[in-house]
Amino acid sequence: MLNLIFKLAQFINKKITNFPAHLIIYFNSWGRIFLMNKLYKTKVSELNHANFNFSRKLWNIEFKGPLFNAAGMFKNNEGYTIAVNQGAAAYIGGTSTYNPRLGNQARGIKLPFVTLEKSKVAINYLGLPNLGDEVLSRRQIAIKKVIPIGMSVMRSNDYSADIAIEKLITSLWLYHNNTEIDFIEINESCPNVQLGVEDIVARLELIATKFIQLRSRPLPVVVKFSVDIKTQDLLDLIDVLVQLKFDGVNIGNTSTNYVKYRDYIDASELKIYDYFTQKFGGGISGKLLKQQSLSLCEAAVLHIKQLNLNHEFHVIRSAGIDCVQDIVDSENIGVALNQWYTGYFENYIKYGDLVYTKIMNDFGSLKT
Ligand SMILES: Cc1cc2nc3c(=O)[nH]c(=O)nc-3n(C[C@H](O)[C@H](O)[C@H](O)COP(=O)(O)O)c2cc1C
Repeated sequence: MLNLIFKLAQFINKKITNFPAHLIIYFNSWGRIFLMNKLYKTKVSELNHANFNFSRKLWNIEFKGPLFNAAGMFKNNEGYTIAVNQGAAAYIGGTSTYNPRLGNQARGIKLPFVTLEKSKVAINYLGLPNLGDEVLSRRQIAIKKVIPIGMSVMRSNDYSADIAIEKLITSLWLYHNNTEIDFIEINESCPNVQLGVEDIVARLELIATKFIQLRSRPLPVVVKFSVDIKTQDLLDLIDVLVQLKFDGVNIGNTSTNYVKYRDYIDASELKIYDYFTQKFGGGISGKLLKQQSLSLCEAAVLHIKQLNLNHEFHVIRSAGIDCVQDIVDSENIGVALNQWYTGYFENYIKYGDLVYTKIMNDFGSLKT
């Protein structure tokens, strides 16, 4: 039922593309908050997903299939039961930071966000709103644990660089102490907070010596990069991650390559695209990133195979996933898991709570 309200918002959005861009962004930002709060509260009845079984064991954790949400959908660890009942393979909360954050407010708009429906693109300038790790690490996520739970964490730009990394390590230990959490994703790629990406190797080394090497329970840690990363930089960073005994990579987070992706935007939405990227900035997500995430993941998987590792190191793909063919493409190149955000809502609007069932049934028929 709730998906029909999302559908109405989509319909309105398609009709108002010639309204002033600021007004459209205001409507979308307010609408996102309103609809997400509704989504978190919605009750999804338990569906029967027994007819597909694409489970896979990674790091000794049983994932129910190849697809689950990308970070940012359940910022404060809401919605676990929704993910379970809709048929997600796993659940990831966050991105959270050590300290609570309100997120960005700019030009009179709280948590700026817009969906360009015709282009199947979203742009967000949220800036990591969350309740902070002290609170979130103590919050119970699952009443009954059914699918694995991950947590996405990041340095906070409210601290100086030295303190921010120490606080991140404190957060990692907070989640380590919470046995509900099965894996961690370190977000190294949020475009909406001012944080240097330089010194990444030194930072990863610090996380390795102060956390990875000292973990006293299996708690895999993957690092999420932007889809804007250059292939060679990605491969170099994989070498570092492997050597430091991290457990995987996620490629990737939203893009800030506004010039490159401008060509993919529907003519009727260019005015909104330009206004958002010029006045707010923000990260681009959606369909137009699928080729980029696929080719980076392919290079990553090939590289990892050549390294002949003696520990598990997996590639997770996010960005641009919105249909069964994307899952097939990922499986064909050896991606272990997929996450979706923008495409999830496209499909939720069409299929409601059958959002995973539909794609997994299609996947099943393609496989047989
Ligand atoms: C509104 C919004 C909020 C997001 N918040 C986060 C976040 O907190 N942490 C993160 O790692 N990625 C965040 N992302 C990025 C997504 O996790 C994902 O990497 C990106 O949107 C590309 O996937 P997609 O094309 O399926 O949307 C956010 C994306 C959107 C649209």
